[in-house]
Amino acid sequence: MTNKTIMITGGAGFIGSELVRQLIADTDFFVVNVDKLTYAGNLASLQEVSDHPRYKLEKADIGDAANIGRILREHDPAAIVHLAAESHVDRSIDSAAPFVQTNIVGTFILLEQAMQYWSALGSAAREKFRFLHVSTDEVFGSLGETGFFHESSPYRPSSPYSASKAASDHLARAWHHTWQFPVLITNCSNNYGPCQYPEKLIPLTILNALAGKTLPVYGQGLNVRDWLFVSDHVRALRRVLEAGTPGSTYNVGGNSERTNLDVVHAICERLDELLPNSPHRPHASLISFVKDRPGHDLRYAIDATRIRSELGWMPEETFDSGIGRTVEWYLENRNWWRRIRPEKQHNRKLRRKGFDAYPASLASG
Ligand SMILES: NC(=O)c1ccc[n+]([C@@H]2O[C@H](COP(=O)([O-])OP(=O)(O)OC[C@H]3O[C@@H](n4cnc5c(N)ncnc54)[C@H](O)[C@@H]3O)[C@@H](O)[C@H]2O)c1
Repeated sequence: MTNKTIMITGGAGFIGSELVRQLIADTDFFVVNVDKLTYAGNLASLQEVSDHPRYKLEKADIGDAANIGRILREHDPAAIVHLAAESHVDRSIDSAAPFVQTNIVGTFILLEQAMQYWSALGSAAREKFRFLHVSTDEVFGSLGETGFFHESSPYRPSSPYSASKAASDHLARAWHHTWQFPVLITNCSNNYGPCQYPEKLIPLTILNALAGKTLPVYGQGLNVRDWLFVSDHVRALRRVLEAGTPGSTYNVGGNSERTNLDVVHAICERLDELLPNSPHRPHASLISFVKDRPGHDLRYAIDATRIRSELGWMPEETFDSGIGRTVEWYLENRNWWRRIRPEKQHNRKLRRKGFDAYPASLASG
């Protein structure tokens, strides 16, 4: 890349903040973080880089064309990594509008602005420019008990979230096909790790268990996900950005299939070991099965052969090591999650579904 700035959208989120932290720690890139700071954006995740001379926050909506155009002209990035999205399936079932607005319309506006900016670059910078669109394996729908998602698997999204991500993948791919805009796409399996908003299975389970609240598990807990530690996903994104072929898609997965029930048990066992004096031991006694969500995909599993063989990427964490690190992180970083203000309206919806919403410590924090 000719200049040294990377623009990241959604850099205050779970995966984006890990990318920002890694780029500041391991490279000499300048990082511009374009984030609207929705409920999921958390500046505490960026505390260690917030005063760094190579880091800049631009609070902006990707759907605000004029602002995005200004940011591009001002910061002159050599690449864009697009992570900004509404990301929670359950919320998309309650209300799909923000998903359509940010994931589809927002991505469209970002692509238009980025292509305008790219078209005006000199030929050397234009040649090296990259737009990495970060997506999910959920666009492929559900697998049966066997088989894997490949880069050529048909798109069969099931939820409003995955449908909106699928639409954004199609837009990004069309911008490459039609105008040769240098798009790369990644489709990754479920991530877990530090700084994940406590509405997703793993952090919700950890925090509810700490507070002695019920651990909600959908249906019989038999849905299978291929879990990947967030730092491994981010290393995959960096590798695709460096060496991926424009117009290509890369599937990213951890080869770590677990049922939701396995995941919750692994967390409970880790907490039992780490908190021998907890009144809530054994934490698994807090497990409570709740009515399954509509259209819940049974199984996702990724064949990551392409990114492994073409780009030499491999995950470094196993599920056992990663879940241990994650539980320890939530125990050691109570201020990070205590500061999150629960949203009363959303919690009411969760309770109606039989969920215990957020732990009391969060509600009073
Ligand atoms: N979490 C996963 O397991 C996973 C797996 C595969 C792919 N992905 C994809 O990776 C990306 C990041 O996921 P995450 O889990 O970090 O999400 P997240 O919900 O933790 O973070 C999303 C970030 O985007 C920002 N944002 C939302 N709407 C915006 C808008 N209109 N303009 C600017 N910023 C906006 C939020 O403030 C937040 O900081 C998403 O595109 C998601 O689809 C996530």
